[in-house]
Amino acid sequence: MDSGLDWHYARAALEWQLELGADEAIGETAVDRFAVEVELQAARAAAAVTQAPAGGGAMPPPRIEEGPDPVAVAQMAAAGAATLDDLREAMAAFEHCELRRGARNLVFSDGVAPARVMIVGEAPGRDEDLQGKPFVGRAGQLLDRMLGAIGLSRAEGVYITNVLPWRPPQNRDPRPDEIAMLTPFLERHIALVAPEVLVVMGNISCDALLGKRGITRLRGKWTEAQGLPALPMFHPAYLLRQPQMKREAWADLLELKAKLRAKA
Ligand code: URA
Repeated sequence: MDSGLDWHYARAALEWQLELGADEAIGETAVDRFAVEVELQAARAAAAVTQAPAGGGAMPPPRIEEGPDPVAVAQMAAAGAATLDDLREAMAAFEHCELRRGARNLVFSDGVAPARVMIVGEAPGRDEDLQGKPFVGRAGQLLDRMLGAIGLSRAEGVYITNVLPWRPPQNRDPRPDEIAMLTPFLERHIALVAPEVLVVMGNISCDALLGKRGITRLRGKWTEAQGLPALPMFHPAYLLRQPQMKREAWADLLELKAKLRAKA
């Protein structure tokens, strides 16, 4: 039977779902979502009865427990890191991001420092979480080929990290509060590596470093982040899904090559 789906397209779609973690259990026991919803409604109803003011009238606002501000804690911890090893330790000790609880490894970096180029990706996926290294899955293999095409490699002149050091469950997008509390570590990371240029890959990285999204508009245009020239580029995972965009990615790689040549 002809399903109308090209074999390669169907395989790429399946691989993408695997990359997203569709085949993985994320807890020890199965959760019956329907039962959870019923329990939640019962709990809400009970809370409404016990919290209703005796004489009727408006409900008081819920009390929110105040804890330390995660961004301020991260800023202090990051500022205290004098070396990359210190920074890795400070991140490993940072307790305020719940992503760490679902991740197998802290994914800190790969490549060499000092480096001419520092690449900032988004977040570890399944393979990176397993190996504790950034960009080792299919997107990472494409990234290596892209770098190789302009004579760069992680063994020489390139340093790679991510905005998030922990894999979000099922590769979901990080929340703004998660990006905010991890950005002080990223900024310190950049200061310690002190590259000549930054490559900002994908929207999450643009959000963290440039304070804006819209990679299709931003890509290929030099801007500044952390006082350094920064080039936003399409993320290689996006290029795997949209191979027709590789032409734009190639133009951006040539921009990067030209900038490095001009600075040499
Ligand atoms: N995508 C990223 O942004 N970073 C990785 O490390 C892997 C995939």
